[in-house]
Amino acid sequence: MDEATLQATLANPENLGEMTDADAVGTVGSPDCGDMLRMWLKYKEVDGRKVIDKASFQSFGCQTAIAVASMATRLIQGKTREEALQLSAQELSAPLGPLPPMKIHCGQMVEGALKAALDAESAPTISSPITPTQNTAPTLSDSLPPAHAPGKVKIVFTS
Ligand code: FES
Repeated sequence: MDEATLQATLANPENLGEMTDADAVGTVGSPDCGDMLRMWLKYKEVDGRKVIDKASFQSFGCQTAIAVASMATRLIQGKTREEALQLSAQELSAPLGPLPPMKIHCGQMVEGALKAALDAESAPTISSPITPTQNTAPTLSDSLPPAHAPGKVKIVFTS
């Protein structure tokens, strides 16, 4: 994994925070570590095609998940739903280089949140091993189960 790219992305993560005018939202929790990630999508029409205008995220996850989510929100801009659905966790995290085995699930959590958001407009199905939650609490902190005690998760506050 490219540590310099990771640190540079974390120093200035893009598209971090809730999107109040989103068209779709997807939330997943990772069974591997108990972290959570939520992604919002906003679409627009370009030349008769519906494409992703912008995306944002909130994460109670590790640094790798935050960096991959930031990169993913950039990567999917301008893509159709179908194009975005084709993206794997490996492709979403490509700028970081290959993730070490213990960090692969972090990228999969981002992929799961993206697919949950993409599916939110159609059938609520998901092909990722990450389990989408049914929780639609307005902020990710509202989604945390009681067992997710403060101090055990990394909380990223957004403005
Ligand atoms: Fe949980 Fe990375 S360790 S998302």
